[in-house]
Amino acid sequence: MTDQTKPTTTDAGIPVASNEHSLTIGADGPIVLHDHYLLEQMAMFNRERIPERQPHAKGGGAFGHFEVTSDISAYTKAAVFQPGTQTDTLIRFSTVAGESGSPDTWRDPRGFSVKFYTIDGNYDMVGNNTPIFFIRDPMKFQHFIRSQKRRADSGLRDHDMQWDFWSLSPESAHQVAWLMGDRGIPKTWRHMDGFSSHTYMWVNAKGEKFWVKYHFKTDQGIECLTQAEADRLAGVDADYHRRDLFESIKRGDFPSWTLKIQIMPFEDAKTYRLNPFDLTKVWPHKDYPLIDVGKLTLNRNPTDFHTEIEQAAFEPSNMVPGIGLSPDKMLLARGFSYSDAHRTRLGVNYKQIPVNRPQAPVHSYSKDGAMRTQNVADPVYAPNSYGGPKADPTRTDEAGLWHADGDMVRKAYTLRRDDDDFGQAGTLVRDVLDDAARDRLVGNVVGHLKAGVSAPVLERALAYWRKIDKNLGDRIAKGVER
Ligand code: HEM
Repeated sequence: MTDQTKPTTTDAGIPVASNEHSLTIGADGPIVLHDHYLLEQMAMFNRERIPERQPHAKGGGAFGHFEVTSDISAYTKAAVFQPGTQTDTLIRFSTVAGESGSPDTWRDPRGFSVKFYTIDGNYDMVGNNTPIFFIRDPMKFQHFIRSQKRRADSGLRDHDMQWDFWSLSPESAHQVAWLMGDRGIPKTWRHMDGFSSHTYMWVNAKGEKFWVKYHFKTDQGIECLTQAEADRLAGVDADYHRRDLFESIKRGDFPSWTLKIQIMPFEDAKTYRLNPFDLTKVWPHKDYPLIDVGKLTLNRNPTDFHTEIEQAAFEPSNMVPGIGLSPDKMLLARGFSYSDAHRTRLGVNYKQIPVNRPQAPVHSYSKDGAMRTQNVADPVYAPNSYGGPKADPTRTDEAGLWHADGDMVRKAYTLRRDDDDFGQAGTLVRDVLDDAARDRLVGNVVGHLKAGVSAPVLERALAYWRKIDKNLGDRIAKGVER
């Protein structure tokens, strides 16, 4: 042993004699049960895996900071967005449907989760690289994800299942048109944008409320992979995106994103021509232009992927003063779902895992539970007369509060003038894509539909594409026939 080499110990810190030989009765004899070090090695190994995230299992991440470069204090009092503020951040990118070892280059939306360790506690912006989503009611989310994952009988992924769900869910058209285009496979995580997708509420220091959407624009520029490149990479390097992020940060090439926002005045939401809380729609920039906020830079790799990335717990319910949810039904459901997922995946005290611990002091009344590591002090109840933490009743201008009144119903959103499922998808295909991008979209959809889609589902899928754009739908139909 050299001077620098540390002696191996057990997990209790007790020096061990060998990493190579178990304790036996004579060199050729049986192993004895009281070789506690061997038992510890086997037992720990058997418990190394934790459940993977239900969606978004495969991903990677890094640390960095967010710096506010503009003055947007007119819209929010959130400390993290005040002029000049710099906040430590953690980001995790992911694919949605694949398992934890699945190829990074499969066609899928990418998760874009940011944790801001603000002075008012942790703020999590859990978004995707797409400004929209496949559905608008959380009742369908579980079914949607199952349709993208694996069949019950064969355990295989199944294009029939995917197109069956999509073509029976016309609200998916906008996101599916987006997904089947170039941006459905980013070249790297560094070369894609991130979006809140949802509309959130902001509140300023005067108590005025606004609706907001976030756009993290990549400073590296948008770059994508063709289906053929992605298929090749899936075979030669399943961890292509995870590797790219780690290596670029390691060599000092720090990726960054410029955060821009769209702001909708509170009252506009009541009369805007489309439902501003419908997650399948964008707000056209001509109505609500982008406003600069600041820059997110990643400059530090994890040193332990498991404790810092795998055990990272992002949750849309982590909101700080000045930021709140909105009447988007999907967002409201997400406000519950994530902490529930973390409690089962990581345990009830997951917020005490260092990567999830806020930098702000915690004075909660939570107590005990499995794996609690931080001590609790008396008094352990409220109200109390022993100097325990007190809630602040002056916080009446919380974000996320709006007027609601009506009968309880199970109904779709009330339709507005421009609320249809295919309009924005058609605009994307006709006005945003150029000829070459449209050709690639047709090729991608044809390839996808030819891979095991049954006749009735195919017929419905072709009708769906014709509703998005008649000409494009006809081209896809021809391609599939061929
Ligand atoms: C992960 C639920 C919609 C973005 C997850 C997880 C759950 C979940 C349970 C796994 C969390 C974990 O184990 O750590 C839901 C539900 C939704 C919904 C119930 C709709 C009702 C969305 C939408 C977006 C999104 C619309 C994007 C705008 C993400 C991301 C992750 C994730 C990025 C990965 C978080 C990470 O990096 O750890 N979702 N989700 N989800 N979801 Fe959702």
